[in-house]
Amino acid sequence: MDRGPQPEWACPSVGFHVRDTVDEETATMRITAVIEPPMTAVGRISGASVPGGVGGRCRSVASVRQVAELERTARVDVLVEGYVRMPHVAGTVSLVRDADRVVIVDPGMVADRDLILRPLAELGVRPEDVTDVVVSHHHLDHTLNVALFPVVPVHDFQSVIEGHTFIRRPADGVQLSPSIRLLATPGHTPQDITTLVGTPDDVMALTHLWWTEQGPADDPYCTDRELLRQQRERVLDVATLIVCAHGPAFRPNGSTPR
Ligand SMILES: [Fe+2]
Repeated sequence: MDRGPQPEWACPSVGFHVRDTVDEETATMRITAVIEPPMTAVGRISGASVPGGVGGRCRSVASVRQVAELERTARVDVLVEGYVRMPHVAGTVSLVRDADRVVIVDPGMVADRDLILRPLAELGVRPEDVTDVVVSHHHLDHTLNVALFPVVPVHDFQSVIEGHTFIRRPADGVQLSPSIRLLATPGHTPQDITTLVGTPDDVMALTHLWWTEQGPADDPYCTDRELLRQQRERVLDVATLIVCAHGPAFRPNGSTPR
């Protein structure tokens, strides 16, 4: 797909669009993930609301369910803070630990692989200690370094892949541990997922719904602006801290792009 000159925000993975290559069955899965109720603990989006939401906002019933069964026991360490300074790009790489799970989220582009491995070692974690990898979507700036880690389950929007084993399952509502849950949040791409993490202090959303705190409000990769808005609202209903894809983590407020 030729999108013409890319703006300053452009990802390096220009022209790589999973949507262009998925088969009919996969496309069906994508649509299902958007419109069907989640598989497990996440409820169907409804118009109902209850008081007491984050920051005084009302929180939808579905949002309450999104966090109701999420424990607050995890620890999140951002190993690499992403940026876009074309032609240089790094994706945010995070370590999430909870119960017996050691999860790397988005082991993507970095200037040097030591920028991932060194902070990991400083936290006392060896690559072989990692139990799972989550990729928020299939752009290379968020997947390039998956092989830094041993063969472990790799989770995406539609599957869990381990070695040469492919298990199909929609990600929405999948619980990796008591405090780690995957949400299908299509917007940046139709295949995007958010990793929702309960920590003692925050409900954190590791996501590409925002590149940085400033957005961009209109994601240049987005093909469905209304869907992006809906998913941003859904995450803002529950998250108190956004670990975004190409900038420092931020606390959402009234000026956060929807
Ligand atoms: Fe990105």
